[in-house]
Amino acid sequence: MHRLNSFLKLEKVESTNDIAKESGLRGERGLVVSALYQNAGRGRNGREWISSGGGLYLSIVIEKTDLLPFRTALAVSEIIDGFLGSGISKIKWPNDVLVRGKKISGILCEGFMNFDVAGIGINVNNEVTLECATSLGRELDRNIDLNDLLSVVAGSLNKWLTHDDVLTYYRKKCATMGRRVRVLLSTGEVSGIADMDEKGFLLVDGRAISVYETMRVEKD
Ligand code: BTN
Repeated sequence: MHRLNSFLKLEKVESTNDIAKESGLRGERGLVVSALYQNAGRGRNGREWISSGGGLYLSIVIEKTDLLPFRTALAVSEIIDGFLGSGISKIKWPNDVLVRGKKISGILCEGFMNFDVAGIGINVNNEVTLECATSLGRELDRNIDLNDLLSVVAGSLNKWLTHDDVLTYYRKKCATMGRRVRVLLSTGEVSGIADMDEKGFLLVDGRAISVYETMRVEKD
């Protein structure tokens, strides 16, 4: 059962992924946890996700789901395109969502024994200072209602969590495919033209790389 059917809206938390994990351990499924602020927002590979007011911070708790990083990235990308125009957002493998090459959303998927958590951060009305990042508010030059945005993101997630042709759509949306890249792994690095196999592994220089061993993907 992959339908999101309940919402827990909080003000300030350490990390919505942690609340989602605790809910999952209690047996909850189909839950969306959101917060206005996170004191300890987490990014991929131990990085920090700055979570000041005005951003959208949410995590979902669902049954084990294949290709979750790709499903969530497609869901977010579709919503960003809904605001900015079809095809404006691109996905950087595995699940950063970019607009004009700048990061607008990051996703942190975590797997547990019998459930998964996907945490999504979207820069919306929050101040973004990094040169390599942008926000929906900045792109549109107006503020967005976070509650409305949360509803449409949940709707898009419901669509993509049950979609049966994820990789075809992902491949079209992913700016990394066919590019020369350098992939930093926990065990070293590989360079070459990026492709993807039918299981969603990144193929570079004869190696099949999983989402979870990828530290960073750079242009080479
Ligand atoms: C990344 O780009 O490195 C992933 C960022 C993920 C941030 C979101 S915000 C909601 C959820 N809670 C967290 O602590 N992290 C994710």
